[in-house]
Amino acid sequence: MYLLPLVRAIRYWLSFMTSACLLTSTFAVQIVAHRGASFDAPENTLAAQTLAWEQKADAVETDLRLSKDGKIVVIHDATFKRTAGGGEVQVADLSYEDARSLDAGAWKSPQFQGEKLPSLDEQLAAIPTGKRLFIELKVGPEIVPELARTLTRAGVDERQITIISFNIEALKEVRRTLPHLPTQFLVGYRAPGTAKPESKPQPTLKEVVSQAIAGGFTGLDLQHTWPLGPAELKTIRDAGLELHVWTVDDPAIARHWIDLGATSITTNRPGWLAEQLGL
Ligand code: G3P
Ligand code: CA
Repeated sequence: MYLLPLVRAIRYWLSFMTSACLLTSTFAVQIVAHRGASFDAPENTLAAQTLAWEQKADAVETDLRLSKDGKIVVIHDATFKRTAGGGEVQVADLSYEDARSLDAGAWKSPQFQGEKLPSLDEQLAAIPTGKRLFIELKVGPEIVPELARTLTRAGVDERQITIISFNIEALKEVRRTLPHLPTQFLVGYRAPGTAKPESKPQPTLKEVVSQAIAGGFTGLDLQHTWPLGPAELKTIRDAGLELHVWTVDDPAIARHWIDLGATSITTNRPGWLAEQLGL
């Protein structure tokens, strides 16, 4: 006769803990605007960054390369063709001044004509208190000295900066030069049989975790296609690594990662996604 109340109590406790965990993960997740609010505004411009803050993103992600004269250029692709009307010329083959003369908004819509490729200084100056910039290094360790100079010049609060990269050598250089900054190792995932012939072999999660530990990185930033479940999340957590996920514009996929315990979700649609998720 004492068994029933006990079973009820256990059930109540389990349901309370489940809700608490879900609530915790929901409230804790950070929304990162991929290249700014890039669904609505031209990617990697100040317009997209400003809109991301308006859409209440917690952070903005941005892509950095180097110009011919060794200055930082904010752009995703290796050429200007897709987003700045500069044809097939490589970012690395143009001076910073010439890159700044290009139009980075017209391709998206006439409304954005005249938008420039922003400088990193401008992006840093435009981070509101309490918000962050996820800086992706699209090139190797050679960019790190100029990055360090720019961060020092801006006097930016280090807590507002996270460095991410697919380039493990670039991240290792950040660890050496700017050891206080969080570093996240970006890793894509292609299911077996779907990789392009020229792609590098797909690493296993175990390999990726080992590389992140050896590099002293603070987290993994994984493509949302990685087939992970609670056991793999435990492996990541047990290694002392955070888990971040990109690029998710589908609420069901975002919910899957939030429930698994991702620290942040990177999306092209920060305002819309947060609304869909009820955040
Ligand atoms: O946030 C990471 C993500 O931006 C990596 O891919 O190609 O969009 O730079 P990509
Ligand atoms: Ca990026």
